Amino acid sequence: MRDSTKIIRSTLSRTVPGEPLHAGPVFAAPYHTPGDPADTPYTYARSHNPTWTALEKAIGQMESGQLATGESYQATALVFASGMAACAAVFGAVLRPGDVVVLPSNAYYTARVLLQEYFAPMGITLRMAPTAENAQAKLLEGARLLWLESPSNPGMEICDIAQLSEAAHRAGALVAVDNTTPTPLGQLPLALGADFSVASDTKSMTGHSDLLLGHVAVRDPELRAKIDQWRTLTGAALGPMEAWLALRSIATLPLRLERSCENAQRIAEFLTSRKEVTSAFYPGLPTHPGHAIAKKQMRYFGPVLSFVLQDKKSADMFLSKSSLLTEATSFGGVTTTAERRAKWGGDAVPDGFIRMSAGCEAIEDLLEDITQALDATQ
Ligand SMILES: Cc1ncc(COP(=O)(O)O)c(C=O)c1O
Repeated sequence: MRDSTKIIRSTLSRTVPGEPLHAGPVFAAPYHTPGDPADTPYTYARSHNPTWTALEKAIGQMESGQLATGESYQATALVFASGMAACAAVFGAVLRPGDVVVLPSNAYYTARVLLQEYFAPMGITLRMAPTAENAQAKLLEGARLLWLESPSNPGMEICDIAQLSEAAHRAGALVAVDNTTPTPLGQLPLALGADFSVASDTKSMTGHSDLLLGHVAVRDPELRAKIDQWRTLTGAALGPMEAWLALRSIATLPLRLERSCENAQRIAEFLTSRKEVTSAFYPGLPTHPGHAIAKKQMRYFGPVLSFVLQDKKSADMFLSKSSLLTEATSFGGVTTTAERRAKWGGDAVPDGFIRMSAGCEAIEDLLEDITQALDATQ
């Protein structure tokens, strides 16, 4: 089956005459547990919930695939209250005092801060290098965990996930990939050899800018058990209503992703033709230094692109003159959004750096709007 068919079918409830196609969310804290709790599939909502199970089944299917050896694998997914809760679960379940974690110096800012401010003071050593040119490869000796993010956010740098996973495994390290930007439909970290595929499903996966959630997917049942235990112990539990809305939203992921990635490509190509744009970063551009690797490991180049205007004034002018680029942080929604990234601090980007997330609007309207907003910066 093709992606759309597979995903849509995976979100349906069991066929029971007279029952709805989509079972509603299950709102419960405790469940009836007469006798031995081991005989009961659901006991208490911090550990499990039937609506999570349905969502995890669908995401697990998306994360499943084939390894480079040709061997098929079935992934399992665990859902979390946010993308950061999912990242924290991998750090918490894997890292112990004395361990070394290798990560990109330009990985998603909040994940870096969590490691720097909470894990490092507990005796975990952080080794960092940029994402581009597989720079982490030189830092792997004695490492416990290699954390990757490709494309990196917001710089859109690319690394070779298969090559780095192999090197990390040779060094005895586990590999986790923050796969938020591409989603499992755009890139399958587990098929490329990673041990954990981690994502904020707040973004493209659910795509309507109204939900906060994340997931971790694995191939190995032992790693699954560790992540599951972390979730139960820390209570990083997703609400059933969010899980249900997410299940509804992911059925349209193939449609949304296809359109938004096409739009991102067209916008990135257009930006490179404009004199106001000093540089544009999108892995789908043949001039991007990571294009060849991206082409090899991604099925879609993602909805996010970034570019640089002359300075803060030009970037602010561009954003204020546009009527179709909603100024907001985050990305991956059906609405095209953009922001001047330096206003948040934390990322090493120039003042005129704009991160844009292409939505699903008609490309002609977006290009017209971007043209007039760029003209206004002159
Ligand atoms: C790449 C990446 N990873 C993780 C996160 C964290 O996700 P959440 O905001 O759902 O906690 C984000 C959020 O922006 C992100 O961009």
